[in-house]
Amino acid sequence: MRVLEAKWHATAAGPEGFPNPAAPEVAFLGRSNVGKSSLLNALVNRKKLARTSSSPGKTRLIHWYHVRYELRAAAREMLLVDLPGYGYARVSKVERKHWQGLVESYLEDRPPLTAAVLLQDIRRDVSEDETLLIDWLAERKIPVVVAITKIDKLKPMRRAARLRALKQSIALPNARIIATSASSKTGLGELWGAVTPG
Ligand code: GTP
Ligand code: MG
Repeated sequence: MRVLEAKWHATAAGPEGFPNPAAPEVAFLGRSNVGKSSLLNALVNRKKLARTSSSPGKTRLIHWYHVRYELRAAAREMLLVDLPGYGYARVSKVERKHWQGLVESYLEDRPPLTAAVLLQDIRRDVSEDETLLIDWLAERKIPVVVAITKIDKLKPMRRAARLRALKQSIALPNARIIATSASSKTGLGELWGAVTPG
């Protein structure tokens, strides 16, 4: 897998703004500040393609990024979709409803969607939000991969213990749970492998 080109494709605040299907889509979802935009950037090796921020709630719209890549000597394309994060404590009920409406309208009816990457911070426990999302995606037959993020934040012993604990509390086979770090570029090849066609 080699990325040939990555560029912004579209941004939408609601279903009327969703771009026409142009390539298979892989969506990134998870709690605010979990590292969605950073992981997307790391995957395409571009520091500032998707905007990141240390203050949660940075991504409030849906952003599509077009990626051309080479796999087994063939040029292919896909769209990586950066969804706004949920669970940001300082937003109002109205904004939370807005997130849910926006993200659900995307996930519920998006034929080119081929996989969802659900992100989980290695330092946090799995919450009801993630459990419900995994069930919700399974019901809709959307393949899901969990990316455990920011593994560089913990020393090896603690990291291994946290990974074991998280794998136990996530109802997915271990092959669908991938330890990653956007900072130290860990797990990126494995994640690509899990979301690109075999
Ligand atoms: P929202 O758009 O608000 O939902 O957040 P997000 O999930 O897109 O998170 P974002 O990528 O903006 O990252 C949030 C913060 O975590 C930033 O300060 C990043 O630098 C930091 N961060 C992201 N990934 C990593 C990682 O792998 N390691 C470390 N140490 N920090 C990370
Ligand atoms: Mg973001």
